[in-house]
Amino acid sequence: MSRVVLGVSGGIAAYKACGLLRLLAEGGHEVTVVPTAHALRFVGEVTWAALSGRPVHTDVFTGAQDVPHVRLGREADLVVVAPATADLLSRAATGRADDLLTNVLLTATCPVLMVPAMHTEMWLHPATVANVATLRERGVIVMHPDSGRLTGADSGPGRLPEPDDIAAVATSLLGDDGVATAMRRRDFAGRHLAVSAGGTREHLDPVRFIGNASSGKMGLAIARAARLRGARVTVVAANLSVPVGGDVDVVPVGSTAELAAAMAAASADADVIVMAAAPADFTPVSASDTKLKKDGDAGLSVELTQTTDVLAGLVRSRREGQVIVGFAAETAEGEQLLELARAKLARKGCDLLVVNDVSGGKVFGAAENRVTILGPAGIVASGQGDKNVVAHRILDAIVGLSN
Ligand code: CTP
Repeated sequence: MSRVVLGVSGGIAAYKACGLLRLLAEGGHEVTVVPTAHALRFVGEVTWAALSGRPVHTDVFTGAQDVPHVRLGREADLVVVAPATADLLSRAATGRADDLLTNVLLTATCPVLMVPAMHTEMWLHPATVANVATLRERGVIVMHPDSGRLTGADSGPGRLPEPDDIAAVATSLLGDDGVATAMRRRDFAGRHLAVSAGGTREHLDPVRFIGNASSGKMGLAIARAARLRGARVTVVAANLSVPVGGDVDVVPVGSTAELAAAMAAASADADVIVMAAAPADFTPVSASDTKLKKDGDAGLSVELTQTTDVLAGLVRSRREGQVIVGFAAETAEGEQLLELARAKLARKGCDLLVVNDVSGGKVFGAAENRVTILGPAGIVASGQGDKNVVAHRILDAIVGLSN
């Protein structure tokens, strides 16, 4: 039986959380409800107690002898916040601890699933967008609100997803191969994982470069997931557009040559190497020390030469027992995508290849991704959704190699 904390914040969609509570309790989970003071104005304590069959915790000071603000978070297998209002997201993103639910969020060591619900203007407000991005960067799984009729006459994105859909995501996180289970197992304890993230830049002059749109989010999600599963982690970080979370060693790099050197150094005692970065494949034969000036109406021709293939180099110098994972960014779909990926896997010689379709710029910079994980014998697994969840699927596939 899993222990779930259901946090409810103060929005009209709190009434729908009653249905979610029922589904989670019927699924055999022990659900403790932690409503905020504002949530209690929409649905009362008695309803939560009756539906959960358990005492409801509403504030930090009641039952202080049990230290509920620490115990509930520490003991939980999963924390679900539904609805998560704009205010709750803001307080969580800034690390406030001004009520019991925000204390639980600060002490939880398990996966946290946030299910936002609010009016469209609030959901699209830059403050909320930034808060959601911050939470995701810290590993929180944030569901997209549904689009449709909101309270009053308006409609748009901001509706709480249906309780069935939320329960399905929660159940998948708790299942035998779920994120909560993986984190509890700490199956990467004692292993060193080196992961590259971001995109490299090859300078033409001090201000211009050839680069790519990789944000580093996928590589950082893998780093975070591996930390949560007990690994020591080194991140070789190439021009990231998002901050690296705490508790990992970071080696900043700029160019593909720097990335190659940093990965070679990190791989000396790494048990697992993941090349999630997008290295630039070409570099100018010569770069100017001073800013290139326009010459009348004349264009500019630049001679480029190929950079080193970092992944192929790491495979060539692989140590006994080392697992090496590559990524494949392709602009194709279906069978054609797989065909390109199979050829790339054979060419690179790595153990696993994480394949994604990057057509139309999707994936780069996005919070979500869809991947197929390929091994020499064929498809090993696939993953879809929040990059934090996809990261765990990739780690599961790595663990699967030694089973
Ligand atoms: N990679 C690398 N060094 C490079 C280019 C790519 O180590 N100079 C790695 C990437 O980090 C990724 C894998 O190789 O793990 C595949 O990268 P991808 O961009 O999909 O393929 P390329 O090798 O660049 O081949 P192509 O551009 O022809 O598809």
